[in-house]
Amino acid sequence: MSEPQAAINAPQTRDAIFLVLGLTPGAAHAERARRVCGQLDALVRAVSARDIQGNVSCTAAFGSTVWERLFGQPRPADLHSFRELRAGRRFAPATPGDLLFHIRAERFDLCFELAAQITARLADSVTTLDETHGFRYFDDRDLTGFVDGTENPTGAESLAATIVGDEDPVFAGGSYVMVQKYLHDLGAWHQLPTETQEGIIGRTKLDDIELDDSQKPAFAHNALTQLVENGNEVKILRHNMPFGQATVGDSGTYFIGYARSLHPLETMLEHMVIGQPPGNYDRLLDFTRPVTGSNFFAPSVQFLNGLANGQPIQLLPPAAAPAQARTAPDRPGTLSIGSLKGVPQHE
Ligand code: HEM
Repeated sequence: MSEPQAAINAPQTRDAIFLVLGLTPGAAHAERARRVCGQLDALVRAVSARDIQGNVSCTAAFGSTVWERLFGQPRPADLHSFRELRAGRRFAPATPGDLLFHIRAERFDLCFELAAQITARLADSVTTLDETHGFRYFDDRDLTGFVDGTENPTGAESLAATIVGDEDPVFAGGSYVMVQKYLHDLGAWHQLPTETQEGIIGRTKLDDIELDDSQKPAFAHNALTQLVENGNEVKILRHNMPFGQATVGDSGTYFIGYARSLHPLETMLEHMVIGQPPGNYDRLLDFTRPVTGSNFFAPSVQFLNGLANGQPIQLLPPAAAPAQARTAPDRPGTLSIGSLKGVPQHE
């Protein structure tokens, strides 16, 4: 049976790093990326051992345009590039992304260590397209001040919502992932009266209770993202996190949604941007705007482990790891995997 990557349904943590990478052209770089991803499980275990209560986890996922280059055919049935959306002043752009590492832990140092170990091994086979450091804000609140994640499915319901089953047997155990980095206009948001903010989100701010239907505007965020199809509610799993810098104004929400297909993620986003019905759009988008948008597929554990070459994993000295990523990837005695020596450099 195909097992999902455990990180997908792991509980929310205090810290996260969202790493979106581009794969360097050339067969040797694809080969190295496959091997590093194949050893991810061992690398996560090695970093986890440094603090067993740190809940270190990492989901690896791959973009549509890189799938054939890395793995050939077949490909996950629903994997396609992010579809841009535009309506009025609202724009959800598509941005590139070949590899996604969603790294989480209870301590930022553990996230950093794992990110450094992964990128040191990938070395010049990748370029960083976006690295966002997420943090827990009070009781799992977004920077808007509202608790984020309350209506996430749990347990069996979460697995059913996120993990591919018999509908695509070759890729059973996998999950689709959508990411979008949103920048907030917090100055404008905080000028709104609390009641107006509550109408926009559809929940009370302090105690996070859903508004009654009689009080909830049709444009409320949780009205537009609640998806009912054929009488059944279709859920997604969100591991969003706040991020940002206090002084330069670049702060917001890193949205990351997991689902069994891209369909619910895309439909919810359409309802937000275009509206349901069209024109009844999500007023949250008057105060925040996405600056990235990419889709990925996170294959099963068996698929990932099958990429490994069987060599034991060796941890790099922590301080050396980030420097390795930028400089010599193949210094003897440091990297045990990912060497390009003897591997042809062109496809
Ligand atoms: C700036 C971006 C976003 C922010 C700040 C945000 C914030 C929130 C908050 C505060 C809630 C209510 C609490 C909860 O149930 O989690 C919520 C609910 C939800 N959001 Fe978002 N969200 C964002 C983007 C998105 C996007 C892009 C999607 C889907 C593509 C989405 C899907 C959902 C869903 C499915 C719910 C639960 C609805 C329900 O059944 O009650 N959100 N969000």
